[in-house]
Amino acid sequence: MSEHLYNKYVKNMTLEEKIAQLLQLAAPFYDEPGDDSEITGPMEELGIGNDTKRAAGSVLGIAGAEKMMAVQKEHLASNRLGIPLLFMADIVHGFKTIFPIPLAIGCSWNPELAELSAEIAAREAAVSGLHVTFAPMVDLVRDGRWGRVMESTGEDTYLNSVFAKAFVQGFQGDDLENDMTRVAACVKHFAAYGLAEGGRDYNTVDLSERQLREYYLPAYKAAVDAGVEMVMTSFNIVDGIPATGNRRLMRGLLRDEWGFDGVVISDWAAIKEMIAHGAAEDDKEAAFKAIYSGVDIDMMTTSYVKHLPELVKEGLVDEALIDEAVLRILKLKEKLGLFENPMRGADPELEKKIVYSDEHRQVSRKLAEKSSVLLKNEGVLPLQANQRVALIGPFADSGDILGWWSWQGSKETAVKLGASMQVLSASPDHVVIAEGSGIHTISESQKAEAIKAAADADVIVLAVGEASEMSGEGGSRSDIRLPQAQLELIRVMKELGKPLAVVLFNGRPLDLHGVYDVADAVLEAWFPGSEGGAALADLLYGKVNPSGRLSMSFPYSVGQIPVYYNAYNTGRPKPEEETDNRYISQYIDIPNEPLLPFGFGLSYTTFAYEGLSLSSEVMAADRPLEVKVTVTNTGNMAGTETVQLYIRDISGEVVRPVKELKDFRQVGLAPGESKEVVFRIEETQLRYHHSDLSFTSDPGRFTVYVGASSREVQKAGFRLA
Ligand code: NOJ
Repeated sequence: MSEHLYNKYVKNMTLEEKIAQLLQLAAPFYDEPGDDSEITGPMEELGIGNDTKRAAGSVLGIAGAEKMMAVQKEHLASNRLGIPLLFMADIVHGFKTIFPIPLAIGCSWNPELAELSAEIAAREAAVSGLHVTFAPMVDLVRDGRWGRVMESTGEDTYLNSVFAKAFVQGFQGDDLENDMTRVAACVKHFAAYGLAEGGRDYNTVDLSERQLREYYLPAYKAAVDAGVEMVMTSFNIVDGIPATGNRRLMRGLLRDEWGFDGVVISDWAAIKEMIAHGAAEDDKEAAFKAIYSGVDIDMMTTSYVKHLPELVKEGLVDEALIDEAVLRILKLKEKLGLFENPMRGADPELEKKIVYSDEHRQVSRKLAEKSSVLLKNEGVLPLQANQRVALIGPFADSGDILGWWSWQGSKETAVKLGASMQVLSASPDHVVIAEGSGIHTISESQKAEAIKAAADADVIVLAVGEASEMSGEGGSRSDIRLPQAQLELIRVMKELGKPLAVVLFNGRPLDLHGVYDVADAVLEAWFPGSEGGAALADLLYGKVNPSGRLSMSFPYSVGQIPVYYNAYNTGRPKPEEETDNRYISQYIDIPNEPLLPFGFGLSYTTFAYEGLSLSSEVMAADRPLEVKVTVTNTGNMAGTETVQLYIRDISGEVVRPVKELKDFRQVGLAPGESKEVVFRIEETQLRYHHSDLSFTSDPGRFTVYVGASSREVQKAGFRLA
């Protein structure tokens, strides 16, 4: 397929021209004049003068059709072979129409809507001149201290894999060659970045290969199987070797074992960072290790352009390796149709029409409705239109609801909570708004104003949380409670003795001490995106019934972390009944269980599970089981239940988790309505990685759990013959 590209381009390129294709520069280089960056320094320091910019293969972070077209035009005018630039950027949860953060999308348990959000993000990005998005991020996350948990769909391997596939499909569609409204996706960060020690960003990752394969790799693999065009390396080490220079990982696993033949890109400056890791003496060695390991594109360092030429000349790097990398990049350019149409989907007129359109924002609103999770409700919600509400807190009237990775989003036009609630209440003056506190500070006058706002209120709604920069890249925290100022605000409001609901804006599962134990109701809004306020008002006033379910456990306190539902049992598990035995696996000061488990979420109605049954007590490889359960809406409001199927392998050659999610279904039920939900379990779902890394199932006993969360389940047993 690529022979013609070789003959037409690669064969005729100088070594320097080839290597320039492997360079990705960031937008500042194209913003005339005085182009430089903190990493590469000024352009002259590239050593090859201003031509390097013209010869580079791709650019990061330029968006806007006119700008992109101007840069592409200028580039082509001076590029000897007429090879267009690829335009890439982080379109993680929307371009200008910002969707809820991925962790929130995970809580929707709704891959169809996730796919649609990616399709819309792609449409807006493509018309604005982008060709590749650095998404989806599918790192498995179990540590809420890590700021980047907000970019992931959560702690579960299976759920993350389902979403990985949906996002890739949404970004790329089925016909990337001809569909100019899609962009190529780049799954990241390969691999296991989510396991950064202590939740500190960029920190050490160390795990067994079996753990890596069993829990951490499947979501990346799902993206690869869904046809993702690119893979990004991670910043961390994997088994002692930085991922970006990890030949076993990149060539051995990704390319040879999985058959991935798309483009591998380093994360930002990750090639050079091998020096700080202690894996390369200098830039030259770093460049060597990266190309040898199969990294095609050097994002934002000069390691490749400066050192690959000499490495080839010295015979240390075979030029064929460089040719391969160039070919992969050219293949992607060809697939995106850039040789014929270097402007691709960029269209300034259409851009004005479709970007941030009503239609797109409606989907964002819908997804925000589906992503919010009702964590507690003791008779406060939904609000009644004729109730007098005091809406208090730093998020009551804030546009900081988009979350990290929304560089094109506009906080100014984001739909705020206060205004949206005023629309749904009997009259706007039924909702009195006060700031109450800042994110980190509270003053006596703010307290007094909040108390005054609450004076005539029937109910107090507190809109509190983390500013968006408190999560995301570089946003690790050691204390994941709300900032003290806001805890103080909650305490002061509680003293008024009125019904109290809390709406939380945050990018990670928090330690909810001082919130959950104090409030009568808690609605987890995450960062809900452009239409967040409207969606939340609908939920608070019961126009929409909450249906989100946690895709990441909320710890009891930070000392439990990592805490996740699919853990091992230990030899001394904590018994359900009280015991005075000291010698069991427990803390003496806090529970073992998280405050709120994976899969948990309330509704304004209630659901009952009845009649769990299996089609047989014995399963065989050629005889799958059917699992049936009847779910009834036992309350007064229509609602959506997420029926979750977990399995436990009672004994394995290596120990097996206490539960593992294998499937789920969402069912909409009118009051009083029942539906039978049927799952099918096949032998392939019982396979796991053994000590020799073989992926097979073991005959023996299994438990099936079906229910409303990983904690609230009914069970039945079967044997695999
Ligand atoms: C660094 C981040 O780790 C990565 O996720 C992102 O895609 C790149 N920067 C480019 O912005």
